[in-house]
Amino acid sequence: MCGIVGYTGPREAYPVVIKGLKRLEYRGYDSTGVALLNGTVKVYKKKGRVAELEEYAVGKELHAHTGIGHTRWATHGEPSDRNAHPHTSRSGKLAMIHNGIIENYVQLKKDLVNKGYHFTSDTDTEVLLNFIEDIKENNNCGLEEAIRIALKRVTGAYCILLINEDDPGTIIAARKGSPLVIGVGKGEHFLGSDASPMLEYTKEVVYVNDYELAIVKPDELILKNLGNEKITPFITKLDMDLAAIEMGGYDHFMLKEIFEQPSTIHDCLRGRLDATAGTITMSGVQNNIEAFKTAQRIIIVACGTSWHAGLVAEYVIEELCRIPVEVEYASEFRYRNPVINKGDIIIAISQSGETADTLVAIEKAKEQGAVIFGIVNAVGSSIARLSNGGAYTHAGPEIGVASTKAFTGQLAVLTMMALKIAKEKGTITDERYSKLLFELDSIPEKVEAILKGANAIKAIAEKYKGAADALFLGRGYNFPIALEGALKLKEISYIHAEGYPAAEMKHGPIALVTEILPVVFVATKDSYHEKIVSNIQEIKARKGKVIAIISEGDDVIPSLADDVFFVPPADEIMAPLLSCIPLQLLSYYVGIAKGVDVDKPRNLAKSVTVE
Ligand code: M6R
Repeated sequence: MCGIVGYTGPREAYPVVIKGLKRLEYRGYDSTGVALLNGTVKVYKKKGRVAELEEYAVGKELHAHTGIGHTRWATHGEPSDRNAHPHTSRSGKLAMIHNGIIENYVQLKKDLVNKGYHFTSDTDTEVLLNFIEDIKENNNCGLEEAIRIALKRVTGAYCILLINEDDPGTIIAARKGSPLVIGVGKGEHFLGSDASPMLEYTKEVVYVNDYELAIVKPDELILKNLGNEKITPFITKLDMDLAAIEMGGYDHFMLKEIFEQPSTIHDCLRGRLDATAGTITMSGVQNNIEAFKTAQRIIIVACGTSWHAGLVAEYVIEELCRIPVEVEYASEFRYRNPVINKGDIIIAISQSGETADTLVAIEKAKEQGAVIFGIVNAVGSSIARLSNGGAYTHAGPEIGVASTKAFTGQLAVLTMMALKIAKEKGTITDERYSKLLFELDSIPEKVEAILKGANAIKAIAEKYKGAADALFLGRGYNFPIALEGALKLKEISYIHAEGYPAAEMKHGPIALVTEILPVVFVATKDSYHEKIVSNIQEIKARKGKVIAIISEGDDVIPSLADDVFFVPPADEIMAPLLSCIPLQLLSYYVGIAKGVDVDKPRNLAKSVTVE
């Protein structure tokens, strides 16, 4: 949540920062601002998106070689010009941007107000900045020392970047709980919430860890802990190119990412799955294979779409590996006092690898001695680094706020893992194992075939775009997909949607059924097929409108449903990887038909780094 960018070096800072902010806009788009350091600190900020700031900045004094910029997802204070970052300190000499939440800011603010401070915004950020300046003045110390003292006294999460009129060319940065990447160039440095703002300038980056402070000058990067001890920066080579974060001819990132899925799933399987040889090579699983084989329980923690992937995994792992699985919302898990026993494995699933609730949940579980296995898309992210072992989903950068290709990457990784563990544990027959390997191998091709039918989904979207509500129903492996379909529709089209197990529908939601309510059934051929057919009958008997996602060859449901979309036949374990695709397209096309900015739907942000 919130994107931060910084630059110091020989280039003009403003264009570098603005370009970086555009790349990070997916992290929040309530307001935008930059602070430039050229003799004095100049701040330009505006409610709204980067484009609005650019317009506002035309004709202003923008020349500087050091600058910081922020794109905001509002936490404290409404989206407005005055709450936009950067904030300046009372003296006007310091400017700061912040991603995170300072939880004890109310008390800090009270103390500062008692000392005569006035605040121009409602933000916790302005409080932290003035707290830092107050310490600097009262302790008669340098800014670096004042930041260290202040950060030891704040609770919450932060990634902060500061510039100081008295120290031209220097950006001081610090993090706890919110991400920070520093790009190392020749005589220049770039800072960002992720690596996208620096991709065209350098491939060498340093991932800053919690409780570290970076003093960044054009030709020097000093990393320290809060105890003022120097740390050697660990340089990582980025394995990502510019094309991966550009739209490549598509109208939206979401559409591009939906259509990338044949190749992203293929990339996820590549080098791991060899159906002919009957092998799955996953070093993260192999290194922990004894723990998995003897696990008494697996607890999956995640949020949102990643949580839905966890629910699918519950069905798959219990079926194939015979290990009990619990799937927890990370935000609930972290605040309970969960029982974690020896022999339990925690699987954390996250696209961004930075989701605050998931991160803290695994930190707590790790403190209790749990083995943490991370399934993450963003390479080098906090969750990936905190995990004892893991597997990347290799879906490439996901920019659209709605998670699509990362979800299918998660499903592919989890299915592969389950198959590998089942084989090692001996809970699957050789014949079924081999069949499922070939089935998994054929998924990219089947997804490709589904995408060829996108226009049919577009027509369904046109028909139902005016709906006020929608119900999504599924059973077994397709139940989590019903939840995911409802979540996608909600976030991208603002239509109220609920996902339910199809049979649960008659215990309440059926009261909503009228002749105008669209009910989406995820009803591919599986062991419960006859049961879901009965559920469709129950909706039709009440004149509901039925849209059904079904398997090719199904000759029963087409005569009952108002609209159908066929997906290629597959083993029921693989069904989620296919049935989710038409639902992603449905939400996309409804969103577009309603004029929603599908890549940046209202109130949302891609990476939820606040709790
Ligand atoms: O980065 P993560 O996978 O940890 O994010 C979890 C959720 O915030 C995320 O899936 C969210 O629900 C998406 N907007 C869904 O499309």
